[in-house]
Amino acid sequence: MVERSRKDILETLTEGLSKLEYRGYDSTGVAVDGDTDGTSLIIKNPGKVSQLKEKINNTLNFDEYNPEYINHVGIAHTRWATHGEPSVSNAHPQRSDINGEFVVVHNGIITNYRELKTLLLNKGFKFESDTDTECIAKLFKLFYDTNLENGIEIDFNALTKEVLSELDGAYGLLCRSSHYPGEVICTRKGSPLLIGVKSEKNLKVDFVDVEFVDDSSDDQITLNDTKLNNPHKQKADEEKVFFAPITNNNPNLRYSQSRAFLSEDGIPIPIEFFISSDASSVVKHTKKVLFLEDNDVAHIYDGELHIHRFKPREDGDKITRPIQTLELELAQIMKGDYNHFMQKEIFEQPESTLNTMRGRLDFQNKSVKLGGLTNWLPTIKRARRLLMIACGTSYHSCLAVRQMFEELSEIPVSIELASDFLDRKAPVFRDDVCIFVSQSGETADSMQALKFCLERGALTIGIVNTVGSSISRSTHCGVHINAGPEIGVASTKAYTSQYIALAMLALSLSDDSLSSLGKRQEIISNLQKIPEQIKQILQLEPQIKSICKKLQGEQSLLLLGRGYQYACALEGALKIKEISYMHSEGILAGELKHGVLALVDENLPIIALGTRDSLFPKVVSSIEQVIARKGKPIVICNKDDEYWLSKKADNPSIELIEVPGTSDCLQGLLNIIPLQLMSYWLAVNQGFDVDFPRNLAKSVTVE
Ligand code: F6R
Repeated sequence: MVERSRKDILETLTEGLSKLEYRGYDSTGVAVDGDTDGTSLIIKNPGKVSQLKEKINNTLNFDEYNPEYINHVGIAHTRWATHGEPSVSNAHPQRSDINGEFVVVHNGIITNYRELKTLLLNKGFKFESDTDTECIAKLFKLFYDTNLENGIEIDFNALTKEVLSELDGAYGLLCRSSHYPGEVICTRKGSPLLIGVKSEKNLKVDFVDVEFVDDSSDDQITLNDTKLNNPHKQKADEEKVFFAPITNNNPNLRYSQSRAFLSEDGIPIPIEFFISSDASSVVKHTKKVLFLEDNDVAHIYDGELHIHRFKPREDGDKITRPIQTLELELAQIMKGDYNHFMQKEIFEQPESTLNTMRGRLDFQNKSVKLGGLTNWLPTIKRARRLLMIACGTSYHSCLAVRQMFEELSEIPVSIELASDFLDRKAPVFRDDVCIFVSQSGETADSMQALKFCLERGALTIGIVNTVGSSISRSTHCGVHINAGPEIGVASTKAYTSQYIALAMLALSLSDDSLSSLGKRQEIISNLQKIPEQIKQILQLEPQIKSICKKLQGEQSLLLLGRGYQYACALEGALKIKEISYMHSEGILAGELKHGVLALVDENLPIIALGTRDSLFPKVVSSIEQVIARKGKPIVICNKDDEYWLSKKADNPSIELIEVPGTSDCLQGLLNIIPLQLMSYWLAVNQGFDVDFPRNLAKSVTVE
């Protein structure tokens, strides 16, 4: 057994948390055994890990406690809020009850938490937080108690599967319980988790078998009045029924062979396990890690690690989880396989866009539900005018959706740069609805504009990434875009998530309009495809890299767009100028002939947004004007677009970047991806610090 003092354990936990702070944090917390049997000691704090450390030191007098924690489990979390503002009660760990019989830390979003909460409230549970996670801790207790009432002493793994069968959404979660001392459960679906394995001796094993369970039963358990689907219900002893992962060369692989860790001489050796969503918090202790897969349930007890599946076995399921040796340095780990946070964030967009939609769009029934707006929707629909106010990239996301709002809601929309809006002291009325869009939620100009609108009695909505930020707290209602922390100064994934959050708002505003029903259904169907389409576009990186090589040394760049694509031209130009320091301008294609055309010659690089929509003929005519002046445009067009393919056949110097098609009002979500990549590679090729461009800060808190 590995022996550690409580102080030691808490230091390990907080030290690990501080390595996770780069992912964003608004509150932190830890849980270890309490002083009385059957209780957990939970210490939580809004703010940074350093403040949590201080609180731990102020709360605990380590000398008073039994110093040795043998085979002990502690869990900890840094939170980036998705449900509920940052506060002590909303910080994790979340507990099942006042004693903390079950304590849980969780990354991800439980989309059916409202239904679960109603069910648990009906069962008499008292909630302390606004989080979705608290439902998980309480479900553990509910199922534990119910099994006990039925005379079943369920093991932790089987109990976990009962809980998981109730959860919809995404999770990477850890649970510890005073009913299972020295044990921990961790499981994931759509959210990463890895286990570091540390031993003083050389480990003999280099993989852990997966224990597949015969899962054919479709029992339901009845909890008083409520039926819960519970296909995984089983008694503890039934757990020993494994699917035999038989392979020809190893017919004995019936039972997991590597549950206990052995030294080279075959003797079980003390092991410490470090479970984390991110290798950065583990590498200090060990470089030996195994990565869990979706639907793995890892159960650690008695120094053994068992990996079960929360799903019947399927063809292609891997039967082992290899223990890998991380060769990476800490900074590299934090960025994953990427060289910069910006690159990582660009590549995260298939997931971040999905997270924005998760639990809000019902693709089957083609409906939208924005929980943070439900009570306000009737008032918003009666608005005399919608004012969207923001700065920089966030402003561009407003511009990108203006036409969609006008078409769907038929409410007049004006878009305002916060600083200009304040300079003009623009008129605002009580029956205006003012929408504030901000990644950080702290931008001073936007915050000042918000105060201005509040003073004039307007209803205010926040579309914000950072939960608990000033804008999120000060607006009447809002939508969190749930893009996850954005670290690169140049905003990328926040832009696409803002775009989608605003699109969902436009859809909500028109949910009772029959005339827009067809368009709404088309948009919802196409939103579902966006994450996958972004993934396809990201594969164009090599082509974009080579285009950027050719552009090296250029001083200036124009981006042409029209209608829905004007915002994309502006946003692309902003990305390029802020990190590659190249002068770039987004031009409304219709304005070309009113002046800008004078700049065009065979030397000026031009990127044209030439995807299909009702304005396509007009965009084509603008690009033709460029070609007529010997310009060699780079055209972002739809995949296999015959017009552009034949144009390129006639004029091979035209470069085509082909992207999938979608609804006209969503095309900007896809067209921006190559431009983000282009800005990134233009900067990297010149050796600039992509994540921290000169003179810029991530959050602009001065006017
Ligand atoms: C550009 C960028 C900025 C921000 C702007 C507003 O890449 O990030 O233009 O969009 O400073 O910031 P937020 O969205 O935090 O209000």
